[in-house]
This record gives sequence, structure tokens and C-alpha cells, in this order.
Amino acid sequence: MYQEKYKYSASLFSINYIKKNSIIGIGTGSTVLHFIKHLRKLKYFIKGVVSSSLKSLNILKKYKFCILNCNNVKKIDLYIDSADEIDNNFMMIKGGGGALTGEKILASKSKKFICIVDESKIVKKLGKFPIPIEVIPMSISYIKEKLINLGAFPILRKNFTTDYGNKIIDVYNLKINNILKLEKELNAYPGIVTVGLFAKQSADICITSGKLGIKILKK
Ligand code: A5P
Repeated sequence: MYQEKYKYSASLFSINYIKKNSIIGIGTGSTVLHFIKHLRKLKYFIKGVVSSSLKSLNILKKYKFCILNCNNVKKIDLYIDSADEIDNNFMMIKGGGGALTGEKILASKSKKFICIVDESKIVKKLGKFPIPIEVIPMSISYIKEKLINLGAFPILRKNFTTDYGNKIIDVYNLKINNILKLEKELNAYPGIVTVGLFAKQSADICITSGKLGIKILKK
């Protein structure tokens, strides 16, 4: 219950970073839902929004935002999203909601990435939360086998298909030593579309809310 309050206030604080005529990338999830509601009041102040998922897109449509096609936008001024875990270097595990591919594309196309989280998401070391990996359906058994060989415990997410018709494997107990290296290694397996490790696409700023109020963490 408190977590929801913290998600609300972290997302409200991020509104301070919205600039006139800017293009805003919109993440996915319950924290972002609060953000969209706050941003509603500024929808004529900004140029438009780009969505990371069908889920967020439907909400943005409902609130009549000016929605821009990702392919028609050269650079996104600011990307706002949450995370399942974020560490001291602002590297993250994302994809708990299954929208990791769209999220990574927007993070890569953005000049600035602000991650908004309640304090429970901040960790010293990533990996307690299972790492979501989006895979092409025919590669499921191959990728699972590869992950088992790495000592991990992969579970296919039940009754879930991504916006792109793919599947998600949630990976437990994967040893994370060098996050950047691991992200790169996993990306090289044929069949993997996106790895829910955001090391290369780490956030620039983290706004966190908790018992002691709002904190703005910078690199
Ligand atoms: C969506 O795919 C995720 O990356 C979310 O950003 C992440 O799971 C955080 O979600 P909540 O804001 O719902 O905690």
C-alpha cells in the first residue's frame, strides 16, 4: 500500500523535468501509470509522446495525448520509466510487465532516461528479481537449455505473449558478475529478442521515493 504512495510521489516529482515542446518517451507499468496521469495536465505543453507498449498506448489514447510514431521520431528528449530493480550505477532489471523490447528501444533513442521507483526497487546487486528475456517462440527450448548450462533456472512465463507475438522466459539464479558483459553475451544467442538487463541503456537519473521522502540520485 505504501509502495503505491511512493510510486505516486516519485512519478509526480519527475514532472519537474518536463520541458516545453519536448518529446517524451513513456515506459510501462504501475509507476508509469501514475506518471501518465500527472503528465495529462501538461499534454498541450509538450510536443507529443512515444509509447513503449500497447498497454501504455491504450492509456495515452484514452487521455487524448498527441501520440508520435517511434519510427518518425529521430530523438526522444526524455524517457520516463520505472524498473524492477535498479543498482548504484543505475543499471536495471526491467520487463516484469513484459514490455522490455519497446522500453529498450525508447531508452536507446532518448537523450535522457529518468527512472522513477519506490525505494524497494533499489538494490546493491541486481538479480533477486528474475531476469525477463523475450524470445522468439521457436527458440524457447534452445534458449532454456543455454540458460540451464549457465547454471540458471529459466521459467517460461505462462499465458503471456508480448506485443510482438513473442514469449518471455523469466530467469532465476543467473550469476551476474559483469552486467554489461552478460547482457552482451545473452544478446548474441539466436532467438533472444531482448534481455531485461538494462546495462548499456542504464538510467541517467533515478528519482526514488520512500519513508524519508523523495531523493534525486545522479551519476
Ligand atoms: C515493464 O515491462 C517493466 O519494465 C516495468 O517498468 C517494471 O516492471 C516496473 O513496473 P511497476 O512500475 O509496475 O513496478
